[in-house]
Amino acid sequence: TVKGIEIHPIAGRIGAEISGVRLSADLEESELAIIREAILKYKVVFFRAQTHLDDAGQEAFASLLGEPVPHPTVHSKKGTQYLLELDSSRGGGTNSWHTDVTFDVAYPKYSILRGVVIPAAGGDTVWANTAAAYQNLPAELRSLVDRLWALHTNDFDYAARHNLEATDKDPARYQDGGFVSSVIEAEHPLVRVHPETGERTLVLGHFVKKIIGLSAVDSAQLFSLLQNHITQIENTVRWRWSVGDIAIWDNRATQHYGVLDYGDQHRVVRRVTINGDVPVSVDG
Ligand code: SIN
Repeated sequence: TVKGIEIHPIAGRIGAEISGVRLSADLEESELAIIREAILKYKVVFFRAQTHLDDAGQEAFASLLGEPVPHPTVHSKKGTQYLLELDSSRGGGTNSWHTDVTFDVAYPKYSILRGVVIPAAGGDTVWANTAAAYQNLPAELRSLVDRLWALHTNDFDYAARHNLEATDKDPARYQDGGFVSSVIEAEHPLVRVHPETGERTLVLGHFVKKIIGLSAVDSAQLFSLLQNHITQIENTVRWRWSVGDIAIWDNRATQHYGVLDYGDQHRVVRRVTINGDVPVSVDG
């Protein structure tokens, strides 16, 4: 332990709880260094009961981890610069395995999620380790996926569907205040070399439209083979939320899934994402 900070791994391959730290924009560099290292090692870390953090506090803390970026098509929550609110009373769930915003060329490197309204039972989130998933593929499959690329699109962006207010706000990308496009697409290698750990991670999830160079059928079958592999229970950790909990994940090495099992109970979580870089394939 350093300065009373303790790290307790949760599942065997992913996830740790960090205790003994009060998250804020005033964290010392030594505390931040421990948190950064834990994120890279455990892929997702959890902090209980950070109830002192409001929207501004969450944004200020998040900015210690890099440059916060707003969601590309969803307006940030009123009064905030970057905060994406996922409110169950305004749309469906996040119950599809995904990595955040992979339809962007340089998709976010971290996401910082805060539990705001949590159902009495249900509404957990599950994360999967995409580095462990790659490592555990048979060598023959690794060398196949090493060379493949996929097209990602926001056609199915749950966040855009989720947050549209019943106004004229179509999901549209704004840059410098001007309308650009409602369709965002990016091609990514199926395997990216993590810029900090050097690990190879699988880049798939909900936003994949097709694997390039394969027929629609082959693409769908290879996609589900790999997705099933990524999301096998051994690669996952599940978090039971309480109000004020914070989860921070390495969006370059994980997928996640919001469990939609809470009926008409209310659930609100708020997310800040941190600017990432363009994935680098195994060929550089
Ligand atoms: C997300 O997909 O970023 C949010 C996950 C959740 O709703 O638990």
